[in-house]
Amino acid sequence: MNVGVNGIRNKRFNLNVRVVNFENDKNILIQFRKDTEIENTGTLDGFDFKAYLNRVRERVNKLPIGQLIIEKDNIPVGQMGFGITNYESIEIGYVDLLYLLPDYRGKGLGKELIRYADKFFSEINVSEYHLRVSSNNHIAINLYTHLGMVKIEEEYPENEKYPVWRMRKVL
Ligand SMILES: CC(C)(COP(=O)(O)OP(=O)(O)OC[C@H]1O[C@@H](n2cnc3c(N)ncnc32)[C@H](O)[C@@H]1OP(=O)(O)O)[C@@H](O)C(=O)NCCC(=O)NCCS
Repeated sequence: MNVGVNGIRNKRFNLNVRVVNFENDKNILIQFRKDTEIENTGTLDGFDFKAYLNRVRERVNKLPIGQLIIEKDNIPVGQMGFGITNYESIEIGYVDLLYLLPDYRGKGLGKELIRYADKFFSEINVSEYHLRVSSNNHIAINLYTHLGMVKIEEEYPENEKYPVWRMRKVL
């Protein structure tokens, strides 16, 4: 597979993107996932971080180029996770995480992350991708909807306070 790891540029920031180095990045992976969990559910209760790290390790093994750290001057400021999965017997792309540190939010970079996802999946000839987002995460839902994602299902996972929306984008 020949997918380039490109930088992210908008009016204010030039950010570097690199693939995750699982052993070296463990702390940052946990930090970003914890913050996302609080953002989405308001609590860390019931979230198993050891199991999370195992899932990331599997994702890195399966599609290393899809697990990405975003950096400003070599300091991690965000993360993107892209994979391939099956949904109703069709192979689709899947976004498992989009994350920016609070100081980098609300400045248009979220849009660049979605554009990055569009390009990533197009380059590997995947024409549809999904993600799951807490129905409580209005900022993310606004962003995804503005950029062409459509809600296709509402799921009620055990231990989650809010329903989760599965959203789809056809490229
Ligand atoms: C989700 C996330 C990546 C979005 O990135 P962002 O940089 O904040 O998004 P942008 O600045 O590009 O904003 C894009 C859209 O989001 C919405 N938005 C941004 N900030 C908002 C706010 N404070 N209130 C309401 N909507 C907001 C707007 O609709 C905006 O579109 P507009 O510019 O046309 O008004 C970022 O907020 C984040 O990392 N959150 C924590 C982790 C998380 O919850 N990830 C999603 C898990 S599925």
